Formats: sequence, C-alpha cells, structure tokens
Amino acid sequence: MKSDIRLFFNKILSRMKFMKSLRFRIFVILVIVSYVPTLLMRYGILQNYEERAVSLRIQEVENQTMILANHLAANNYLQDTSLETINAELLQLSNLYDGRVLVIDQNFNVVKDTYGISEGKTIISEEVIRCFKGKNTSSYDKDNQFIEMTTPITLSTEAAGKEPKMPSEDGTLENQVVGVMLTSVSTDNVTTNIEILDGKASILQLLLLILAVALSWIVSRILVRPFERVTASISAVKDGYDTEALDVSDYSETEHIITAFNELLKRMRVLDESRQEFVSNVSHELKTPITSMKVLADSLIAQEDVPVELYKEFMTDIADEIDRENKIINDLLSLVKMDKTAADLNIESVNINGLIELILKRLKPIAGQKDIDVIYESVRDVTAEVDEVKLTLAISNLVENAIKYNEEHGYVKVTLDADHQFFTIVVEDNGMGIPEESKEHIFERFYRVDKSHSRKIGGTGLGLAITRNAILMHRGAIGVESEEGKGTAFYVKIPLTYVSK
Ligand SMILES: Nc1ncnc2c1ncn2[C@@H]1O[C@H](COP(=O)(O)OP(=O)(O)O)[C@@H](O)[C@H]1O
Ligand SMILES: [Mg+2]
Repeated sequence: MKSDIRLFFNKILSRMKFMKSLRFRIFVILVIVSYVPTLLMRYGILQNYEERAVSLRIQEVENQTMILANHLAANNYLQDTSLETINAELLQLSNLYDGRVLVIDQNFNVVKDTYGISEGKTIISEEVIRCFKGKNTSSYDKDNQFIEMTTPITLSTEAAGKEPKMPSEDGTLENQVVGVMLTSVSTDNVTTNIEILDGKASILQLLLLILAVALSWIVSRILVRPFERVTASISAVKDGYDTEALDVSDYSETEHIITAFNELLKRMRVLDESRQEFVSNVSHELKTPITSMKVLADSLIAQEDVPVELYKEFMTDIADEIDRENKIINDLLSLVKMDKTAADLNIESVNINGLIELILKRLKPIAGQKDIDVIYESVRDVTAEVDEVKLTLAISNLVENAIKYNEEHGYVKVTLDADHQFFTIVVEDNGMGIPEESKEHIFERFYRVDKSHSRKIGGTGLGLAITRNAILMHRGAIGVESEEGKGTAFYVKIPLTYVSK
C-alpha cells in the first residue's frame, strides 16, 4: 500500500519534471516564505481590530448604563416604571446602540423591557446573580453579533443624587444592589467594518502575492543561473577536451563542481595522451619488422642472379621478422586482456607450487641454451584463489626475463612463501641488473633498457607491463631490487583469497 503511494508520487514527479528542478523548489519556498506572513498579518490585524472595537464599545455602553443606573436608583425607578424621563433615557440608549435594555428587580422580575415583550417575566441567569453581588459583567457573542452586559442598580445609603459611584467589589454595606440593568447592544457595525477591512486586506494580499510570485520567479532564476552556467560550460567542453579548464565560481558549491570537473578533465587528458602515445608506440613497433622485411625483400629483388644460399639467408631473416611481428601482436593481445576489469578474472583455487613447477619446466630448455641453473625453493605448500592463466603469464614473464637478461652459466632462483594472508614469489638472478634510472620505467609499455640488446633477444618491452597488470588485477603488488652487473630480484605479493570489491 505504502509503496503504491510512493509509486504514484514518483509517477507524478517524473511526469512533472519541472518539480524536480532546484529552481522550482526555490521558487515555491520563496513564495511560501513571503506569502504566509501576509496571511498571518491579515488574520492578526483583523482579530486585533475586532477585540479592540468590541472592548471600546463595551466601555462606551458601560459608561452610559452606569449613569443611567444611577438615575434609576435615584428616581426609585424600580418602584415606579412609569417615569417618562427615565423611560425616554432607556429608549434612547437602546436606540443609540441598536440594542435592548431590561431592568430587573431584586426578585429577578423584569420590570422594564425596551422591546416591551419580557415585562413580568423572571430572569435568573448567572450574570444577573453575579451582578446582584455588585459586579458588572459583559460578554461578547461573536456568532450573533451582540454584546450583553449587566449593570447593578445601586442604592446608596446616603442621599441619592450624588455622583455615580463605582459598584464596590466586595459589596460594602453602604451600597445595596436593588436591581440589575441587562443591556444587549448589537455589534453589527464592528462586523461591517471587519468585512470592509477584510476586503481591502484581500486586495492588498493579492497584490502582495503577485509581487511575491514575480520576485520569487526572478530571484529563483538568478540563484540557479550559476548552475546553468556550469552545465553550459561542461557541455561546451564535452565536444572535445582541448578546451581550457573551466572557471565558473559564483558559489562555493559550483566551484566544487568545477574543481572536480577540471580534475576529471586533467585525468582524461593524461589518459588521452597516454593512449595516443601507446598507439604511436604500437605503430612504430609493428612497423619495425615490416620495414626490415621490406629492405630484405627489396635487396633480393634488386640483385640479379642471386645465389640460393643468399636467398635462404634472407628468407630466414624475413621469417624471424615475421616471428617477431607475431610476438608483438600476441603480447599486445595479452596486454589488452589484462587491461580489462577484474570482472574478467577467472578465479579458482590453484596450487601455486604446481603452477610454478610447470612454468620452470617449460622454460628450462631456454635456460639450458645459456647453461643457466634454474633453482626452485618452496618454503611451504600454497593454494590460493587466482586466475591460473593470467598468473602463469605474469610469472613466466619474470622468469623469462631472468633467463634472458642473464650471463652464461648464471642462475635463476624462484622462491615461494606465504603467511596467513598473502603468498610471495621472488624471482632472482645474477645477471646484468637494471640501471638505477631505468627502474621506475621498466613496467611501462614498450620500455626497454637497451633497445637493440632487448630486440636481439626477442624482447617487445611489453612483458613487465603485462605482469604488473595481471598482479594488480589480483589486488597484489610487485617490486624490484637490482644492482647493475650483480643481478635483479622481483618481489610479487598476492592475497591468498580473492576479494572482489
Ligand atoms: N631480470 C632482469 N634483469 C635485467 N634487466 C631486466 C630484467 N627484467 C627486465 N629487465 C629490463 O626491463 C625491460 C623491460 O622488460 P620487459 O617488459 O619484460 O620487456 P622485454 O620484452 O624487453 O623483455 C627489459 O627490456 C630489460 O631491459
Ligand atoms: Mg620480457
């Protein structure tokens, strides 16, 4: 059910793409932030006005009724309701405030009603009872739009006709409440005023809303512009990365995007350069054997009556060049395979001792040509999770190098060891060694310390690059130690269990 609802909202969101935009969100927030206060203000002001208007009216009417109550008391109106002057005053009061006045005596009998309908009836209400204790009360009935108030008619024990006295709170002895005036006045005019005010406020509010929408629209546009600029400049670069590094730095946020993008750009440039270099190296390497073949073939063609021996000799050279071309292509293919992601690894549990023994057995004939002694020392039996084919290629290259770049009657020693986490293979020789300045380059593609020498012994310069890639794919490491003229040792360290990330 919940997921249904989410699905529904996602659907709406994806339909209305603009809702996802930062600009739309800023716009909505700005409109709300600027409009809600006007709503609150309007409500608050109107509320305040109403309270104030009602309380003013209560005060005004209260003053009048108190004067009148004193007149009533002074003239003994409760005993004789036929007094014309008082009746006129009562009527005037009720007319003036569009209301009604009831005069109630001590027995809760209505002795006078300006409407003339309730005379003779009895009214016992909380307000009236409280008023008999000397308190005037007032209450505002908002729904029916009137104020009802009670005023005590107090008989002073001293002579009547004195200044009107405030009814005492504690009902002091000298003031005796003999009756109550129950006055209700209409607040129609307050309501009317509120309606008028509300109407004006609505118009003002509408204008403010329009203003808020317009300003928010503009401001949201301005706020989002740097992001649009970033997108625009990234798009401009997309067409070819020889454009300059970007520079859009309005916000620290866009600056971060730009910095990250520029770094990416830099990396792509490096990658692009190295790829170009690789391609040009490849072309060059592939061209060399072809050039040789062409020279050999041309010189045969140019000569008349070439002896068969020369033909044979040249053809052997040409066949050698073809072998070389073949080797370069094979190495390139191996390298490309190793360049792929770890997903292409074919991991199995492999006995490393067996793997090394097989490699050495295969290479021994080559070693025998130079009378090189191949020694294998296995400290312990090691089984690890590796890609057998790729690891074999990597170790073969190391042992092959140790044989190739060795002197006559030298030795090659391979040592296998392991701890609880890694296994290590050391390939050591007492050959020519690697010059100090070349050490950092030997793993580069096509790098050879001595091009002509390496070429003579069939090197392509790709062997160590392939080895390094294969070991890195296994999340391992490779290092080299070498001294010129003394010998070289390659150290390989690979985890026993393969953990794919
Ligand atoms: N065991 C070693 N002893 C001396 N030099 C080595 C050894 N292994 C590699 N090198 C040097 O490193 C270079 C790169 O090796 P590699 O990538 O296998 O290319 P290559 O195809 O020339 O063997 C070689 O040309 C060689 O000069
Ligand atoms: Mg090699």
